[in-house]
Amino acid sequence: MDLKRVLVTGGCGFIGSNFIHYLLENTDYEIINLDALTYAGNTENLVDIDRDPRYRFVHGRIEDADLVTGLCSRVDAIVNFAAESHVDRSISHADPFITTNVLGTQVLLDAARSSERLRCFLHISTDEVYGSLGPSEAPFKESDPLLPNSPYAASKASSDLIVRAASKTHGLPVIITRCSNNYGPYQFPEKLIPLTLINALERRPLPVYGDGENIRDWIYVKDHCEGILTVLEHGREGEIYNLGGECELTNLRVVKTILAALNRPESLITFVRDRPGHDRRYAMDIDKVRQELGWRPKTDFASGISQTIDWYRTHESWWRRIISGSYRDYYRLQYGRYPEAVL
Ligand code: NAD
Ligand code: TYD
Repeated sequence: MDLKRVLVTGGCGFIGSNFIHYLLENTDYEIINLDALTYAGNTENLVDIDRDPRYRFVHGRIEDADLVTGLCSRVDAIVNFAAESHVDRSISHADPFITTNVLGTQVLLDAARSSERLRCFLHISTDEVYGSLGPSEAPFKESDPLLPNSPYAASKASSDLIVRAASKTHGLPVIITRCSNNYGPYQFPEKLIPLTLINALERRPLPVYGDGENIRDWIYVKDHCEGILTVLEHGREGEIYNLGGECELTNLRVVKTILAALNRPESLITFVRDRPGHDRRYAMDIDKVRQELGWRPKTDFASGISQTIDWYRTHESWWRRIISGSYRDYYRLQYGRYPEAVL
């Protein structure tokens, strides 16, 4: 598909900021990044490309119908990352997950429908919509039922269903990708890998939920970005594509790998009360995307985790600004104001 301009929502978060970097390096697209700058949005993630003529930042919410209608009329494709993304936060307060992930997605879909120019609405989803696997069950396939267990997963499953409905009812050209757990640069240190890494660097206790035997399928974020671009350019309208790292590891194994790499003792591991409704295992069957589009993850865990550790070691001021809270003022302090919304 020939694209000139893409609207990326949630581009100041972890995967969105990696994706914008990836697009600038690997395509000639122009990019509009619409981000609400919640606690998870950090303009410092994109400060290096801030003056790139192909990039514009718009501060706003996907639930703002007037704003997104205007933006949708000026782009060829939307890649919708904007979401509340942390399971533990959804357990304490589910409201923002419904507002952004469900209502926001519907507003964006309606805006997309009103655009005469738009050719693809790519919705970024997660393996968590499928629920939890037993130890010997086959990995999730695209045709599996949606059985979400956390408020986060339920809000993402809801958004997947309303995206599907917009395609079936209104003929909107949508595609959904569902990916497994990402790790890599710019991940907010509330998630397992960056939290463990920073605590280990600081020689602080590492909280491990329950018995630490829960399994996640880990993918290096750049591989995910490559998968998204492949689907955006070559995926079939109306389809769902699973993306994954083909790398199932227990949480304890992940934590011990990081401790060993940083030469820290395993005595830092601290078992804490389990997360309510904690999914035991995720695993993705990625045969469809591999066979149809030729995509597969390239980075093995040893290489990905070592690049991630290097990044957090060399970007100490980045994560220290998050811990102190000063990252929220970064853009204003650096530039004084937000740039114009018009591209
Ligand atoms: P993140 O929490 O790091 O970033 C979310 C971004 O969305 C932030 O920049 C935030 O400011 C922005 N945002 C939140 N609400 C918004 C709103 N109403 N309007 C506009 N912007 C808003 O999330 P992430 O880890 O980068 O995940 C991105 C997407 O990928 C999410 O949809 C998530 O469900 C999905 N996903 C994540 C993973 C993972 O391992 N992190 C795996 C699979 C799928
Ligand atoms: P997380 O990074 O929150 O991603 P998700 O819940 O979306 O998979 O958690 C990954 C796994 O690590 C999950 O099984 C919960 C566990 N976990 C801990 O054991 N300790 C922690 O401090 C965190 C944040 C997660």
